[in-house]
Amino acid sequence: MASNDKKKTVLRSASWFGTRDKNGFMYRSWMKNQGIPDHHFEGRPVIGICNTWSELTPCNAHFRKVAEHVKRGIYEAGGVPVEFPVFSNGESNLRPSAMLTRNLAAMDTEEAIRGNPIDGVVLLVGCDKTTPALLMGAASCNLPTIVVTGGPMLNGKHKGKDVGSGTLVWQMHEEYKAGNISLHEFLSAEGSMSRSAGTCNTMGTASTMACMAESLGTSLPHNAAIPAVDSRRYTLAHLSGMRIVDMVHEDLTLSKVLTKEAFHNAIRTNAAIGGSTNAVIHLKAIAGRIGVDLELEDWKEGRGVPTLVNLQPSGEYLMEDFYYAGGLPAVLRRLGESGNLNRDSLTVNGKTIWENVADAPCYNEDVIRPLDNPLVENGGICILKGNLAPRGAVLKPSAASPKLMNHRGRAVVFENFDHYKQRIVDPDLDIDENCVMVLKNCGPKGYPGMAEVGNMGLPPKLLKRGIKDMVRISDARMSGTAFGTVVLHVAPEAMELGPLAAVRDGDMIHLDAESGRLHLEVSDGELADRLETLKSQQVIASTGGYLEIYRERVLQADEGCDFDFLVGCRGAEVPSHSH
Ligand code: FES
Ligand code: MG
Repeated sequence: MASNDKKKTVLRSASWFGTRDKNGFMYRSWMKNQGIPDHHFEGRPVIGICNTWSELTPCNAHFRKVAEHVKRGIYEAGGVPVEFPVFSNGESNLRPSAMLTRNLAAMDTEEAIRGNPIDGVVLLVGCDKTTPALLMGAASCNLPTIVVTGGPMLNGKHKGKDVGSGTLVWQMHEEYKAGNISLHEFLSAEGSMSRSAGTCNTMGTASTMACMAESLGTSLPHNAAIPAVDSRRYTLAHLSGMRIVDMVHEDLTLSKVLTKEAFHNAIRTNAAIGGSTNAVIHLKAIAGRIGVDLELEDWKEGRGVPTLVNLQPSGEYLMEDFYYAGGLPAVLRRLGESGNLNRDSLTVNGKTIWENVADAPCYNEDVIRPLDNPLVENGGICILKGNLAPRGAVLKPSAASPKLMNHRGRAVVFENFDHYKQRIVDPDLDIDENCVMVLKNCGPKGYPGMAEVGNMGLPPKLLKRGIKDMVRISDARMSGTAFGTVVLHVAPEAMELGPLAAVRDGDMIHLDAESGRLHLEVSDGELADRLETLKSQQVIASTGGYLEIYRERVLQADEGCDFDFLVGCRGAEVPSHSH
């Protein structure tokens, strides 16, 4: 606890609760209908617990219990907890893509924080988009903020084997389509895969973003990996509740933690954990909110960093194993020992990241590999550029086939996802394993919401021949649990008439991942002519509703897919009275 002399004398919440006039009466009076006693309004930090609990976000469905433990900690440290809901976007149910509402949830979070009598914030996050959304919203306010993640599910167990969220579905579905397993066997894995509360247990986007939050310094150590049902998750929630009260007294705002150096730590951590490509978009969006200039080029910081964490989809194990092996602190220690960590970056517990992890033990060197025996020598995310992606595209080498990392092939083009679904099953489709599958109109505006369809399944006729991977290129994203030689986030997207829109069946494409090049072998003149024709034919129908704002204002993938008008930190200045 902060000593008395460290206590903040003027709290933001006092502007609501601290006056003896009509306004103060009103603010306090209605709150008192919850049984709050007088002394709770007399100078105690009010801590907002921003909760993404929802039964439609199964990964966050246990969050009321997590919030209760956060509250215990806040009370213990002398604060007053106030829990409030924000839009919860669950990856598994929400159509057409949870990404479509990430910015909506971020707006909700930002406005809820700024407009309310809150001195500090605890962000309860779990499922993929909830972590970036809440961090984005909180960053635009810049109050003292701490992240508490809900934690991953226990390892899936199917027929005596450990099975991973998502990764198992992709694998079994390919097996089913190839005729190797029955429909009954395929469906029987549903309950075995998701058998406890928590987020996906693979190193998918949720686990990646939890690791990003921890490596950015926005959570207590070990926040990323403790299983959702492990009692230590609830201890961590309690300690985070205690800590946020002190952070208010210390005025430890988010901008003191979210520095450029912290983002570089996150990028290198992403390489070391074999993290999701979605982090490229989310980190950019968070950085934009706090005012840190993070470019695609910054991801080169992660190239050369070995992938140490042997988790699916790149490796073998699952999040439960990761925690028992030492969790993220053990990885950060290795990054620090190999010169890949900005050791002085401040974290929410008031210590530097290096102080937190310098002695972190590793209990299983097969799960968290030593530096001299990595899972992948050169991890990270390749940033590609070329005439097919003038503003960039990404590829995750640890999920790709080494032999396809430098590949030239004939394009087989799908104009949109429906066209892909209809065409891919055609036995007469002119395609072989050397072709490059190109999918258009699945970008932020095109889908809209930039669905996770970039890892499009291979043609059944090639699967039956045992082909496991082909080069795929799109303006879509892919699930963090997916794998393959998949070029994603091509910017500008086809809907914005980026060059991707102009690719035709039979064009030759050259991918050279190591040199970062993605080239369409079509002359500049021909490319310009094709795009001019497409422009004259493009009709964009009005949809109304949220979708209309989304399509008009969403930025491209290289800019983090935030809304243009939401970029930046608008602070937490107290708004004028409501009555
Ligand atoms: Fe929620 Fe994977 S679906 S974390
Ligand atoms: Mg996902």
